[in-house]
Amino acid sequence: MKFSRFGILVIGSLLVVVVGISFIHFQREQTALRDDLNRRARVISKSLAPPAIRILKNPPAIDEEDVAERLEGQGRTIGLMICNLEGKPIALSSTLTDTVTCNDEVMATLESGKESILLDEIGGQSLHRLILPLKDRTGSLLGTLTIVHDSSYITKRVTSAVTWMTLSLAILAIVIALGTYLASRRSFQRSVTQLLDWMKSSKSAEDLPPPTESLLRPVSREVEKLTARLRAAKETAKEVSEANRVSNLWTGARLKGHATFSIGNKSLIVVSNREPYMHVKKEGKQRVIIPASGLVTALDPVLRATSGIWIAHGSGEEDRDFVNSEDKILVPPESPLYTLRRIWLTREEEERYYYGFSNEAVWPLCHLTHHRPHFEEKDWQSYIKVNEKFADAVLQECGKDQPFVLVQDYHFTLLPKLIRERRPDAVVGLFWHIPWPTPESFQICPWKREILEGMLGANFVGFHLQSYCNNFLDTVNSLLPVRIDWDRPGILHNEGLTTVKPFPIGVQLWSERGVASDERFREKANMWRKELELNAKRLIVSVDRLDYTKGIPERIGAIDRFLEKYPAHRGKVVFVQLAAPSRVHIPRYREFVTEVEGLVEQINWRHGTEDWKPILFLKSHHDPETVYTFLRMADVCIISSLSDGMNLVAKEFVAAREKGDGVLILSEFTGAAREFQDALQINPYARADFAEVIRVAIEMPMEEQKKRMSRMKAQVIEHNVYGWAANLITEMTQTVEVGISSRQDFQTSKYL
Ligand code: G6P
Repeated sequence: MKFSRFGILVIGSLLVVVVGISFIHFQREQTALRDDLNRRARVISKSLAPPAIRILKNPPAIDEEDVAERLEGQGRTIGLMICNLEGKPIALSSTLTDTVTCNDEVMATLESGKESILLDEIGGQSLHRLILPLKDRTGSLLGTLTIVHDSSYITKRVTSAVTWMTLSLAILAIVIALGTYLASRRSFQRSVTQLLDWMKSSKSAEDLPPPTESLLRPVSREVEKLTARLRAAKETAKEVSEANRVSNLWTGARLKGHATFSIGNKSLIVVSNREPYMHVKKEGKQRVIIPASGLVTALDPVLRATSGIWIAHGSGEEDRDFVNSEDKILVPPESPLYTLRRIWLTREEEERYYYGFSNEAVWPLCHLTHHRPHFEEKDWQSYIKVNEKFADAVLQECGKDQPFVLVQDYHFTLLPKLIRERRPDAVVGLFWHIPWPTPESFQICPWKREILEGMLGANFVGFHLQSYCNNFLDTVNSLLPVRIDWDRPGILHNEGLTTVKPFPIGVQLWSERGVASDERFREKANMWRKELELNAKRLIVSVDRLDYTKGIPERIGAIDRFLEKYPAHRGKVVFVQLAAPSRVHIPRYREFVTEVEGLVEQINWRHGTEDWKPILFLKSHHDPETVYTFLRMADVCIISSLSDGMNLVAKEFVAAREKGDGVLILSEFTGAAREFQDALQINPYARADFAEVIRVAIEMPMEEQKKRMSRMKAQVIEHNVYGWAANLITEMTQTVEVGISSRQDFQTSKYL
């Protein structure tokens, strides 16, 4: 414990007071003792005066024994001395022979005729002397009587009394000082703690009242002013950063501006196999549906914003009824914003190019699901032909100006080369929506080199993840005579340079898709709850195409294990699987549907009761509004893909959480898992762990849900699909600036 200056001052002052009091006490005690001795000496002198007068009148030598007897019982009296007028001792106690004489003081008393008292040191002894002038009856002076006392006891008594008193007072002073110090320190500490608590509270939402302690009032007033200023500054900073964030956010309008600025009036041509709007016949009526495809979800808002042309396979059975003479239709049908050009494929082309090579060879080749790819020569030939067909269509759409072509996905690996061969000035980008495998996996493809060469016709190839880019660079490096520029990164080849970069795709917010009104949602949600008899049950939702890469049997298995291990949740939780049939002409897909339906049946039989089915399998094409309704109704969403380029349902789920609650269970084998660290990540193959995570998700406290969801939501908002498209457009324009776009350029370039 450290004494402050204040403490030292207090103790110092107390000590001065103690010394002062002791001194006064010393004086008073000494005076009292002296007065007492004076009194005693007078009494003795009075009683001895008559015999002393007699002796002086009748001068025979004094009988000391006699005098001593008289003095007996007189306490500290040492002796007496009688002196005559001539200053000669007439009687002297033997105890005084060496110390007292009839000296000047005696003579002075004789002269004054008045009693005198002396207190002094003689021969090392403290003596008290009372000299009494002796007179006869007529008043004539006869001599003096000196009564001598030992006065040393006065000093001793006074010293000891003062010492005790000083010590007591000093101890008392120290105790008081220490007590005061400790008490004030405690009260100061309490006040400081109160001040600190208040200061801390002013940082948070809970506002405590300021300390009332008068000593701290000036401090708290200053802090109040400072806090108010800081709060104001914080608010301003928040507003500025929010404004910056909002102004930095990519929107449709901003993308439009960016595209106009970057490519001007030049045409932006997007090519994909799947079209964004399909005309189909449902219950005898022609209807438009938006197909279940992440690619479509992502590109439609981009095309709406940039007003380009989208070339795709016209796969709806009613499609031909809605196009013009150039096979074009303005879409979206209800409020047209861009052109869709439909390409017609023969049954055989569809069979071999789409189902065969694209989805039975390349799809399983790129997804690590242990499903064997099937390579058919005829499928490959058809794939070449369809790529050429699309190339023709693209070239027809290219105007005189430099065209910008954005090719989508694994259906068109040969397209970039085919376009560039005929329009070397074209800027071609290829975006690969699915994973890219390791070189070891890819090399089993009999037409691996042709595929890679076709892709390298593009100025850039984009993937969702850096790891897919790395796999692609490794694959090209191991199979073609090229040089890899690992810094760019890009591939230097005979036809020029192809840059390879990750462009993680995002989604459009639901509010921009016209399906997110609260009222409509409530209406739809109530309708579904009633129809499916969901009542107040907790809802786990999944939305997928019926594809073996999505990990649906693994998910059902985990639900089975969860209900088995945690029977308390039986009857209280319902798992709703929205499943869009997909690629149904491929046997593996048909078998897959049968397998899933069988599993659902089995689990419902095992755990279900008369009024509760644990799994509701809704196999149908679901429109975006239904998907939104279920994603918003859900307590938990499960994405358990065995392999998935990105998985946009994960992002759509997060985007649908208006209240910021909900839990996302996400397979670690999806591209989205890299961005959503706040999702509960699972290995879909590890059933027991998966089941455990379902329990954690169902029981997760609201606060935790909101904390995780808010971070994921920020990610979804900031990295939306417009930003993704803007980056692709930027990449295209930068490619033009690099200028290595032809064989000649490459051969004279610094890279060789
Ligand atoms: C994946 C592919 C897309 C495809 C979608 C639906 O997301 O990357 O290119 O459109 O699946 O498949 P489908 O064969 O029905 O078009």
